Amino acid sequence: MKARKIKEGIYWMGAIDWDRRLFDSLIPLPDGTSYNAYLIEGSEKTVLVDSVDPPMADKLLSQLQLVSQIDYLISHHAEQDHSGAIPYILSKYPDAKLISSPKAKGMLIDLLGISEKSFLTVEDGEVISLGNKTLKFIHTPWVHWPETMVTYLEEDKVLFSCDFFGSHIATTDLYVTDEGRVYEAAKRYYAEIMMPFRNTIEKNLEKLTSYDMEMIAPSHGPIYPRPSFIIDAYRDWVLGPPRNMVVLPFVSMHKSTMKMVDYFVGALVERGISVEQFNLAVTDIGKLAINLVDAGTIVVGTPTVLAGPHPLAAYGAFLANAVRPKAKFLSVIGSYGWGGKTVEILAGMIPNLKVELLEPVLAKGMPSEKDFKALDNLAETIARKHKENNMK
Ligand code: FEO
Repeated sequence: MKARKIKEGIYWMGAIDWDRRLFDSLIPLPDGTSYNAYLIEGSEKTVLVDSVDPPMADKLLSQLQLVSQIDYLISHHAEQDHSGAIPYILSKYPDAKLISSPKAKGMLIDLLGISEKSFLTVEDGEVISLGNKTLKFIHTPWVHWPETMVTYLEEDKVLFSCDFFGSHIATTDLYVTDEGRVYEAAKRYYAEIMMPFRNTIEKNLEKLTSYDMEMIAPSHGPIYPRPSFIIDAYRDWVLGPPRNMVVLPFVSMHKSTMKMVDYFVGALVERGISVEQFNLAVTDIGKLAINLVDAGTIVVGTPTVLAGPHPLAAYGAFLANAVRPKAKFLSVIGSYGWGGKTVEILAGMIPNLKVELLEPVLAKGMPSEKDFKALDNLAETIARKHKENNMK
């Protein structure tokens, strides 16, 4: 695909990765992704904003075929899906200066072996003139690495945000046309990589909202022609209170835990609580992550195997601990054959979660009336706790 004009002197470049289905060998990409770069032609200087994942470098290089000079190459973020093709760009334009935050400089040298003499580091708030266009660099650390920054193009009021506000979607739409579709993809993206840094995201969000923006151009997914759409969504995900909702990741081996899950979901629904259940043997962990953004309570369903939680339940707990959702309560339900330390092991795996542990329900073998009664009690406790915390 050729470069596509956004505004006078501003072009989308980059690559659409229709077939990619996994990021970091971990994160499902049901809709593929894109690696957006942008070309800005000022009256005196020309800039390329970010690059692409190395396997797609040829697509960017072919878009640059008729561009005789690049004066600056901005690297907002050292992760290779944006920085990986920088060495190819610098080979083609050896006099280009690589603009980065001071922290990114060291990382780009370590990760890509870029020569120190190529760099021009910029401080927070520093500006560079391209003649009739002015770039302002805004440091936004921990979105989602420590070196991240964004660029505001003052005259055109465009924010180039790199990963911030991004969404993993492969589409030929240059701009967001279906906000519902992009909302879900952006929330998935937020949940998977931004949510662990919620506190610093909040600070960076406030820092950016003082800018008058006509457009946000991220490095994944379509451009936002209505920036308030994604800024309001981020505000809700970051600052909104947890909801009257239980997320229930579970795994079952011989249907005992499954029976408990079925019963428990009914007990919660009867008490006005919405539930999202995820069978960890088959689930898309991105869907689980999306629902962790809002959940008031997490309940893990697991059988005891090898004297502890099922490995898939341990995996689910590990992921939940890593993404640090704002849930306030957590419990465990499941069955066991003869004993074990399922609850103790799971509880030890979630030090990052600021949750109150609610009395678990573990059945010996198939659940009995006594266990169903205990599940009713747990559902009642969750309903009361949610009410006390004004979860809606
Ligand atoms: Fe899209 Fe953190 O890289």
